[in-house]
Amino acid sequence: MKESYVFYQGEIIRESQVNIGIRSKAFNYGLGCFEGIRAYWDDEKQQLYGFRLEEHYERLLESCKALYMDIPYTVEELCRWTVELLKKNEFKTTVYIRPVVYKGSDELTPTLYGDDDNRVLIYCQPLGSLVDKETLRVAVSSWRRISDTMLPPRTKPTAAYLNSALASLEALQNGFDEAVFLTDAGNVCEGPGENIFIVKKGKLITPPPSDHILEGITRDLVMELAKNELGMEVVERSISRTELYNSEEVFFSGTAMEVTSIVEVDRRKVGTGEEGKICKELKEIFQDVTRANNPKYAHYCTPVY
Ligand SMILES: Cc1ncc(COP(=O)(O)O)c(C=O)c1O
Repeated sequence: MKESYVFYQGEIIRESQVNIGIRSKAFNYGLGCFEGIRAYWDDEKQQLYGFRLEEHYERLLESCKALYMDIPYTVEELCRWTVELLKKNEFKTTVYIRPVVYKGSDELTPTLYGDDDNRVLIYCQPLGSLVDKETLRVAVSSWRRISDTMLPPRTKPTAAYLNSALASLEALQNGFDEAVFLTDAGNVCEGPGENIFIVKKGKLITPPPSDHILEGITRDLVMELAKNELGMEVVERSISRTELYNSEEVFFSGTAMEVTSIVEVDRRKVGTGEEGKICKELKEIFQDVTRANNPKYAHYCTPVY
């Protein structure tokens, strides 16, 4: 396999040149935050498109601010470096991009204070569908989602993904494909790495930011497409667990997961037990939008070549 290039501390270098110390605060305490971005390859146009790069880097800088990990780059600079990195790796396939900001110093205590140990790393890898199934069977987790008063999920902190991993582990060990979190107050929150939607009486409903979700960039797109392209009413409101059982459709959205139908929750069939009409339509529109084939949304796509 060709060695990959990464962005590290202001330059593009070979991945093997990056050295992350065993004593670093990121490794020992999970002091870091990250983003997950995709670049979509369009075979017909022989073009790779970074998808909503600006929104992802705006969210990363907001996370950095909240976590006291300021970095010396603007959104524009981070977008430019990302395009350079994709070019340097000569990708001709759909790619997952992972920017990480972390505390790199060896200091023993888990302090966030001080800018001298902030590191910025961006790596990428080819990624087709995240899961090898068209539809998912999920279970509500016995693990509750972390809240904004504990480990703010909106900052995409690396440490928070232990909460996600525990929920996924439980779901997989119990024979399901993925978990769904409830908040501490018992409302439906999100998946371990994706937002959740239900369709009820023709309305598209999704939990509000006040239910401790990550305000997903795919979630935002799904809401926009449902309103503009399908003429649906979109509602952000708290959802109860049993509403999942009685919805016409349930589906996940996320950069890695894209738009994926949920056909069973806690061993109860959702709707017909097959991918729903709305989810299917949104998926089809999503395919076009992410590859700059829909002029209305072409501004979300940054051509790499
Ligand atoms: C916990 C969590 N929720 C939701 C999402 C979906 O967000 P986005 O659509 O911006 O990828 C992600 C993925 O980043 C996530 O990790």
